[in-house]
Amino acid sequence: MAKKDKIVYVCDNCGADSPKWIGKCPYCQQWNTYKEKRISGSKNKKETFRSEDTNDIKPLSEISLEKEPRLSANYNEVDRVLGGGIVPGSVVLIGGEPGIGKSTLALQIALQSNEMKSLYVSGEESLRQIKIRADRINKKNEKVHLLNETSLEEVIAKTKEFKPDLLIVDSIQTLFSENIDSSPGNISQVRESASQLLRFAKASAIPVLLIGHINKEGSIAGPKVLEHIVDVVLQFEGDHNYIYRVLRSLKNRFGSTSEIGIFEMHNFGLEEVLNPSELLINQSNNDLSGVAIAATINGIRPFLVEIQALVSASPYGTPQRTTTGFDGRRLSMLLAVLEKKGNLNLYNKDVFLNIAGGIKVIDPAIDLSIIASVLSSLTDKTIPGNVCFAGEVGLSGEIRAVSQIEQRIQEAEKIGFSKIFISGYNKLQTNNYNIEVVMINTVQDLFNRIFR
Ligand code: TYD
Ligand code: MG
Repeated sequence: MAKKDKIVYVCDNCGADSPKWIGKCPYCQQWNTYKEKRISGSKNKKETFRSEDTNDIKPLSEISLEKEPRLSANYNEVDRVLGGGIVPGSVVLIGGEPGIGKSTLALQIALQSNEMKSLYVSGEESLRQIKIRADRINKKNEKVHLLNETSLEEVIAKTKEFKPDLLIVDSIQTLFSENIDSSPGNISQVRESASQLLRFAKASAIPVLLIGHINKEGSIAGPKVLEHIVDVVLQFEGDHNYIYRVLRSLKNRFGSTSEIGIFEMHNFGLEEVLNPSELLINQSNNDLSGVAIAATINGIRPFLVEIQALVSASPYGTPQRTTTGFDGRRLSMLLAVLEKKGNLNLYNKDVFLNIAGGIKVIDPAIDLSIIASVLSSLTDKTIPGNVCFAGEVGLSGEIRAVSQIEQRIQEAEKIGFSKIFISGYNKLQTNNYNIEVVMINTVQDLFNRIFR
């Protein structure tokens, strides 16, 4: 006997559902977002895929890990950010603002690998447009195939038949499932499409690369629905005015989440930056005030990056604090520390802070270089070009130890720096290196060593 249709109410904003209409969503706190949705009882609404895993209970020790060869994207930066390549049957989401280069990255991943037969499904652009982009990248690969499709069911059916080694969907917001009444891009559509693709990927072992747009609030496809579903979330970010693009791992069920990959956007596509330190620091030797070099680490990779500060008298009552690539609140905190512990007057100064290349660095160890650059601009004294910094600054002005200090020192040494300032609380043999390691304990120490 055919089942009767069922009515549920689904929140437009976060995708939560409820058997009756409610005015305010208890999950995302939005008002008036619940819409009626009919779930058909007769249609086989969720296609189930048979996976190799049975539903039986198994002892943990008997689960075999043998067959997990990873597919290489043939792209150092991408493979590393993924934790060593693409895991078969995984769903990877690449999120980013419109125009940042997501489609280019996905297409290059497909073009780059000669071993993978890939299927690039686009709901956004015509096949001609993709071809034009591929010509621009100027890489030929017979194994890349294109499909213009927005129906989720069709995409899955055609992929099953075609059996690619990698499925790319550009973008998740253009897909729609015939089982859901709302329009493409709507949160329930996005959620349904992603979960169906996840089930498909798990059952078929075909990895899926999803492209997702970031909305104004900076989250992928609105609320966090998608991020919970997929295995890996990568964010592609950068400043449109610069050529650098950073691929950052935000969630990874198969690897570390602090990994980043750096690219440059050229007119022939994206190029990997295998040696970021050499690009992110100003090569010219003329020493400028307000510049300090930080030895930072993202994931397992250390690199050096240039911090630029400009401190100038504020013409207005409320001084400006503007940052690029660094958390503005953290800058305010560091300035407060300088003011209180260093007895410096910054309350009547504008402070502008910039991380070179427009890249965003999330690493507490750059604190020390931030205050060094601010002090340098404030006192108009230059920091010698062969000096760099790695240390976190605490609220009482103490310089705190940071993780992976050996790698930071080695990177500085490799690039040719002759002196690095670090925290005195780092436990370390300082005479093991060819670079002078200076240990300092307070902000005052830094001031005395360089700016007095
Ligand atoms: P695109 O991949 O379409 O971005 P997204 O999919 O994230 O919206 O790339 C958009 C920008 O990249 C566009 O402004 C043009 C630029 N671009 C280059 O500078 N060089 C290139 O080789 C390509 C293909 C694009
Ligand atoms: Mg695109």
